Amino acid sequence: MAVIGFLVGSAVHVVKLVFEVVCTPTSFLFKLLFRHGHKHISQVAYNLAASRAAEALKEDALFVDPLAKHFAQGAAEGANQRRPSCEDRPTLYHTESGRRSVSYTITRTKYFDDAILLAVGHQDYSVSAMFEDVRERVGMMESTCQQVVILGSGFDSRPWRLSLGATRWFEVDLKEVILEKQRLLHSAKASTSIEKKEGSRYPLQCLSIAMVPANVRRPNWIKQVKAAGLKGSVPTVWVMEGLLVYIESHHVERILEQLSDVSPIGSFLMASVISENQLRTQKTGPVKDKWKWGCPQEAEEYFARYGWTIVTRLSWTIAAKMYGCKPRKRSFAKEQAQFIIAIKG
Ligand SMILES: C[S@@+](CC[C@H](N)C(=O)[O-])C[C@H]1O[C@@H](n2cnc3c(N)ncnc32)[C@H](O)[C@@H]1O
Repeated sequence: MAVIGFLVGSAVHVVKLVFEVVCTPTSFLFKLLFRHGHKHISQVAYNLAASRAAEALKEDALFVDPLAKHFAQGAAEGANQRRPSCEDRPTLYHTESGRRSVSYTITRTKYFDDAILLAVGHQDYSVSAMFEDVRERVGMMESTCQQVVILGSGFDSRPWRLSLGATRWFEVDLKEVILEKQRLLHSAKASTSIEKKEGSRYPLQCLSIAMVPANVRRPNWIKQVKAAGLKGSVPTVWVMEGLLVYIESHHVERILEQLSDVSPIGSFLMASVISENQLRTQKTGPVKDKWKWGCPQEAEEYFARYGWTIVTRLSWTIAAKMYGCKPRKRSFAKEQAQFIIAIKG
């Protein structure tokens, strides 16, 4: 009996020990597993910076992102990985019709640049007719949004390249991405405060910036953003570009609900999404295997359930055409990838 007791006790002890070594958040193995799970998605973030750097080299660039090259190359060096190419392939660029071709991600950046600028009050900003509904909504508001929060911000550089006036800017991403970005901003001499600093090459173009290391899969991420200064009474623009596809549906639903709970009327939600159908039919592969969520066909009803009214929803290929470009055929996401803009209420 004593022997059995001893054996059971030892087995329990061993199981507890293994659990602690592998699964506690502070353990080496846990961190290793956790980091590996996110590596691919974060790698995508600096590939995106590389394609924005390539865009800046074009004569008829849709936007110029001077920090992008620095992010793309510096991040690759920091992670000891292959440098993403910042040169675009000319054969892909020129089309028979003479119109320039454009990829999904470049269209996405330009589209949300324009949408954010409108929402924070640049109503005189000359943007395409595809924003008429958004412009109208902004015109009806008592005050425009003074806070922007980017979830899954990656190597976004809007606070240094868009004229954002008195906007308070927040970025949320995984800790390793935020730390890497801060390191690269520092080495590029990009300012993270509006006080004029001698030697700063890239001055901040908004009132303030806060970078929040947080995992949006964990419910307490919103508390971290509040602790960083988000004001619940101020209309806010929430931006999720290239993020939701990587998040499981129950987390997506909780995030939409959390955003609605902390957003006063007049707030905007902006997101790029792929459709449920695309999620189902896409061939398997290293990218597809990381995809978790597709937006339901009845997107209007779905978003309304969490307090968001869709104002505009359009396919990226239409947006590309409205910018006078030819959507690149082999670009990421066919027509089913869409841009959504919704308002609170
Ligand atoms: C495809 S990248 C897009 C980056 C950026 N929005 C852009 O368009 O350049 C996705 C970003 O989401 C971040 N991300 C993925 N899962 C996340 C999570 N659970 N919590 C916070 N950030 C996450 C990744 O680290 C990465 O920077």
